[in-house]
This record gives sequence, C-alpha cells and structure tokens, in this order.
Amino acid sequence: MSDASPPMNDAILHVEHLSMKFGGLVAIGDLSFRARRGEITALIGPNGAGKTTVFNCITGFYKPSEGMITLNRRDGSSYLLERLPNHEIPARAKVARTFQNIRLFSGMTLLENLLVAQHNKLMKASGYTVLGLFGFSGYRTASAESIDLARHWLEKADLIDRADDPAGDLPYGAQRRLEIARAMCTGPELLCLDEPAAGLNPKESMALNALLMDIKDNTGTSILLIEHDMAVVMQISDHVVVLEYGRKISDGSPQAVRTDPRVIAAYLGVEDEEVETVLTEVGDEDIIEQLDTGPDSAHGPGTSSSYLAGPVTETVGHSEGERVTVSKGASKAGQVDARSSAAANKAAKATPPKTSRTKPAAKQNSPRAISNALDAPRDGIADRLALIKGIGPISEKLLNQHGIFHYDQIAAWKKADVEAAETYLAFDGRIAREDWIGQAKALAKRASAAGKRGGRK
Ligand SMILES: Nc1ncnc2c1ncn2[C@@H]1O[C@H](COP(=O)(O)OP(=O)(O)OP(=O)(O)O)[C@@H](O)[C@H]1O
Ligand SMILES: [Mg+2]
Repeated sequence: MSDASPPMNDAILHVEHLSMKFGGLVAIGDLSFRARRGEITALIGPNGAGKTTVFNCITGFYKPSEGMITLNRRDGSSYLLERLPNHEIPARAKVARTFQNIRLFSGMTLLENLLVAQHNKLMKASGYTVLGLFGFSGYRTASAESIDLARHWLEKADLIDRADDPAGDLPYGAQRRLEIARAMCTGPELLCLDEPAAGLNPKESMALNALLMDIKDNTGTSILLIEHDMAVVMQISDHVVVLEYGRKISDGSPQAVRTDPRVIAAYLGVEDEEVETVLTEVGDEDIIEQLDTGPDSAHGPGTSSSYLAGPVTETVGHSEGERVTVSKGASKAGQVDARSSAAANKAAKATPPKTSRTKPAAKQNSPRAISNALDAPRDGIADRLALIKGIGPISEKLLNQHGIFHYDQIAAWKKADVEAAETYLAFDGRIAREDWIGQAKALAKRASAAGKRGGRK
C-alpha cells in the first residue's frame, strides 16, 4: 500500500498571493504559504478567518480572484489548481478533501460509500459501457481491486466490523473516519480535511489522530488540516499556518505558533485587554514582555488592519508612518501590532501615542442583565459553552459569572440579550457574526437528544 519513498520535505502545495473576494468582502487577502510533502500542515484561525475558503480554492469549488496554487506531484508533474477544471483536480492533481459538514451517502453501506468513491476508476475499466460492466475481465479485476482497497481503508479506520451497515447508523466520530477512508480510496497525494475533529469526544479524537498519523507514516499522502481543536493541532501537525481575517498572521512549527502573541490574541478570540490576562494565565513572561515591546513584524497584517474591502477600516494613517487602530471590527493581531507600534513610537518620541483603541461609550456604562440569567447551573452542571465557536475560556468564565451556563439559554437570547452579553464580553457584533445562537441551538438539541438516550440532561 505504501508508495515508493517520496521525496520528503519538498513543497507539495505552494499557495502564492491568493485572494478571494465575495463582493466587497475580502475573505482571503494575499495569502502565501507552502505545505511540505509527507507532512501534516494545519491551517488554523478564528471563525470566518477564511480557512474553508482556502480549501474551496485549492479543490476548485471557487476560482480565486487572484493568485496561484501549484500542486507538485511525486512523479514530477505540476498543476496550477486555479486553472484546472474542478472535476479534474481529484483525478489529475490527486487532491481529495472532506467537508466541514459530513457528506456521506447515509443510506448506503460503508463499503458502498467507499466503492462509489472509486467510481471513476471503475467506469474507466468498464470502457464506459454497460456491457463492459459485465463482460470485460478488466472491469472484474478493477472491481476486485476496489473492494480490496475499500476493505483496507475500513480496517485502517477501525470500521471493518460495520462494513455492511448503513453509513447513517454510525456514531458521529466513526462517520468522520469513514469520510477520511473514502477520500483515501481515491489515492490522493494531498488530503485536505476541514475540521475532522469537530464535535468528537476525547476517545473519538484519539482514534482520529491515530488514523491521520497512520496515513502520514504509511502512505506518503500529505495532509492539509483545518482544525479548531488545539490539542489535535499541537499533537499531530508538523507545521502550522494561522489566518485571521483572511491574512496570514503566523507560520511555523506548532511550538513557535503557540507562543506567538498575535496567535494568542487572534485565536483565542479575546479582546485586546484580555490578551494580557490570557498570557498571564498561560504564564509566559517572555510573551508578555514581547507584547509590551513589540512582536516580530515579519508576519501579520500589511497595510490594513481590517480585511473587509471598502471604507470600514478605522485605521488612521499618520504622517510619521505610525498606524493606530481603533478597535471596532479590527483584527486582533492588528491590535497587537498597533499596540507595539504605539509603544515603539512612544519610546522614540517620548510622547504618548495620539490615539489608542477606544471602546464605544456604551461599553463603559454599567451593563444590563441578560434576561434569562440563572443564579447557578441547573443540577449544578454547566454546559461546555466553549464548544460554541467564538467562545474561548475567558468568555465562558465571564458568561458563567453573568448567569449563563447552558446552550439553551444562549439559544433563547433576544436582541437585547445579545446586546447585554456583548457589553459584558466587550464584543462588537461577534455574537451574530459567529452565529452563537444557531450554534447553541444545535448543541442544545444534541444535548437534549443525548439526555433522552440516557445521557446527562
Ligand atoms: N460563498 C460565499 N459568499 C460570500 N461570503 C462567503 C462565501 N464563502 C465564505 N464567505 C465569507 O468569507 C469569510 C471566510 O469564511 P470561511 O468559511 O472561509 O471561514 P472559516 O475560517 O472556514 O470559518 P469557520 O471556522 O467558521 O469554518 C466569512 O466572512 C464568510 O462569511
Ligand atoms: Mg470553515
């Protein structure tokens, strides 16, 4: 099964100056990065950072507004993916993907799902005729090979015992592994996985990690991984690229990225005042010092701190080249940069920076209560609000302090509640942008179904 030893560590994927615009929205802005052959490259960033859009450009679902995406195959051939018709990307460039929302044929068995994935190979062997399906030994051989390959990946994914069950009957984590097995049946050189660990319990997460490490170690397939679960990213990635508002803010080893202040600010999704609190909690004095004195300017936003096209940026240009950013809607990484830029300016001129980030006046008034706040969690057990994308550990703590402990509370929020919560959290518009209420409704539904099946309410 293992391919002849591929040349390791050369770039299998080279993304250069990629931009993708949707009307006025710049979902990806001038993004460049490489994924090395034989490695797991993680693409991380807060909700809406543009990660799935990058995948959609790589796999031909979107044609990028600008930029080049080069896929270098092991045999030495190269493909410009942005120019390849999307149906040719899996077959010719050998790129396979899974989706953020599971897409399986739920009524088909596991084995059938993996055979459908090999449809192209089987059709080719049939000579594209019905007679060919029955007559040619070539088809019979291909069909036997396809079944062998399907069985091989069902075993790898620890699903062989359920080969004849409908895919829809599998638990969630097993469906995720089935999707990966299905993608592997197409023999990809690059496997793009969009949040494969989302919603998995710790045991399922471990099984997923094992499958990904097996693919990496034994097939030569390179993996590009979008993931929010930092435990997964840190454990299995060789290289991490971090996006915020469609721009790259960090790129390096998991260790380097984890301690990058811009990443902490952006990825944890905290307001700038909270960054230091987070860093203090993380306990990294070096980073705290770096934040005060200014981070490496090699990465991070270029000329704008907001990546929406048009005049929504509150970036102020100063004649000395100083750039001071006002908070509303601006990049967290940009705020870190602005902070260090202001600090450097202060040191150079021994005068205070002219402007700093400001909070809207409402944020400084005493906040209103959220209408459905509780004194304590029901049955003494709070839901894990941090499962809602956009809620980090600090926001979860703040919400608990203000009487919000359960998904169904957030699911029932009205406009005034959202405004009150945003006041507590010092967020502007994020709750709607990240659809916390929709996410909370889905989680509440799942929790209630689990409760009915005997889980905790
Ligand atoms: N087809 C589209 N039309 C308009 N806007 C889009 C489209 N696809 C994505 N966007 C916007 O582009 C931005 C990036 O979205 P994307 O889905 O790539 O983010 P993401 O990093 O994958 O987020 P998440 O972690 O929530 O999955 C968002 O503001 C999104 O609303
Ligand atoms: Mg996404």
